[in-house]
Amino acid sequence: MPAGDSFFITTPIFYVNDVPHIGHAYTEVASDVLARWHRQRGDDTWLLTGTDEHGQKILRTATSHDVSPKEWADKLVEESWKPLLETVNIANDDFIRTTDARHETGVQLFLQKLYDDGFIYQGEFEGFYCVGCEEYKQPSDLVDGTGPFEGQQVCAIHSKPVEVLKESNYFFRMSDFEQPLLDLYASQPDFVQPASVRNEIVQFVKQGLRDLSISRASFDWGIKVPWDESHVVYVWFDALLNYVTATGYGVDQEEFDRRWPAVHIVGKDIARFHAVIWPAMLLAAGLPVPKRVFGHGWLLVGGEKMSKSKLTGIAPQQITDTFGVDAFRYYFMRAITFGQDGNFSWEDISARYQAELANGFGNLASRITAMVGRYFDGTVPIAGDLQPADLAIRETELRVTREADGAIERFAINEALAVIWELVDALNGYITEQEPWVLAKSEAQRERLATVLSTSLRGLGTLAVLLSPFIPEAAQKLWQSIGQGELTSQPIDRAAEWSSAPTVTPLAAGLFPRIEQPEAGAA
Ligand code: ME8
Ligand code: MG
Repeated sequence: MPAGDSFFITTPIFYVNDVPHIGHAYTEVASDVLARWHRQRGDDTWLLTGTDEHGQKILRTATSHDVSPKEWADKLVEESWKPLLETVNIANDDFIRTTDARHETGVQLFLQKLYDDGFIYQGEFEGFYCVGCEEYKQPSDLVDGTGPFEGQQVCAIHSKPVEVLKESNYFFRMSDFEQPLLDLYASQPDFVQPASVRNEIVQFVKQGLRDLSISRASFDWGIKVPWDESHVVYVWFDALLNYVTATGYGVDQEEFDRRWPAVHIVGKDIARFHAVIWPAMLLAAGLPVPKRVFGHGWLLVGGEKMSKSKLTGIAPQQITDTFGVDAFRYYFMRAITFGQDGNFSWEDISARYQAELANGFGNLASRITAMVGRYFDGTVPIAGDLQPADLAIRETELRVTREADGAIERFAINEALAVIWELVDALNGYITEQEPWVLAKSEAQRERLATVLSTSLRGLGTLAVLLSPFIPEAAQKLWQSIGQGELTSQPIDRAAEWSSAPTVTPLAAGLFPRIEQPEAGAA
């Protein structure tokens, strides 16, 4: 993609029935890393996130706490969901709530258009509904209950009985879009990713699509159907539209044309909504479909999916309080193949923190900047003739810059980090071999010492640029210590071309200080 193109990326909008856990933080960080990378390439980047506030799930939670659903949502948004973005350092451009006036207006415009164009009709709905999923269920989606629900059919995800619904509803003619969707998946093979999710989606659509009930009349916490105010819009139909109502749909055509279509990052649990219902809605409205829907894997704790409803949630702050924000971001982006499930453990994050961040990278930065301080009074030495070892570092810088950019383009976030780490390892090896502390003992080796430290510093600067989307705070600290200004002004796809300035201030405290282990503290 040439620099300057629109890169509009979204996270799901999260339900405000409960507080965030590290699964939500994971989606946020992955989306933010991609957004920061593209922004720093000079792409016209827009990161959208927000909250999903309507529907029975929120209504019931609020009622059980004796407050109105809007009061409940306001509290959770201000006290929990917006603070999550601070906790894990998300540079979002917008935050949409489905209770925003701009959203409600856009949803009504969209719905009215589909109604006027004949894509919506009134009918009788009879079937099952899971409030936990906010989803209509087929008998094949249900499993036998256990424990208190022995003898009943329950939702396979929430392990709770579904509700039997018999209502007069409005329906969206989703079945009209079976073939257009199959054509879309065929003509745009990377529309749904990764391949495992894509295959599941294609199989699902091939089995045939039913029309979708898109309104409810038995409660009123939602957006009113514009031509029949006794109904509210089905919460998923409402929620999916956030991606266009946040970018001017129906009210600011210029902004809408500038941003849309988006890349959607979601968990694989909701890939079907984004890769089937959502493009069908857009096709019906005559709007472009998303560029891509990426369904990432689940964070597991002790082998089980972390979830709000099963009380296995870990608050992001529990981790950032110990390891810091950068380490949180680094760990989840590095340790889990983006698109696959991954297990979280405290042992694993501790081990990676120590080996990769503190010893591998942090120590490298401290040593190089300290040596420039000690041997050259902080003034960047001019390199002399370059030897093969110096040229090899230079080549590695150029190669990892190119390969990391390619990996990000494929959403292979963990691969991008792995390839950047080849430069960390190369620089550590270079320092060990060149032994600048030995060169420093002899006046005759002064020029060689200058070349080695200048080469090392160049590599460090390139690392700061490449790592800035992942670990923004540490990268900026490093960049400043080597005499540079705002890190984000260096185009990332030209990371290795940053130009140097004369002064280095050694890093006083390391970038990733030693963490006292609870065990060590007790001993
Ligand atoms: O589904 N591992 O909201 P939600 C990784 N409001 N990611 C996880 C996770 C885990 N264990 N648990 C949750 C909704 N997530 C709707 C979305 S969008 C128009 C509407 C993340 O609060 C993951 O991104 O249930 C998943 O898709 C999302 O949280 C579900 O959040
Ligand atoms: Mg959920």
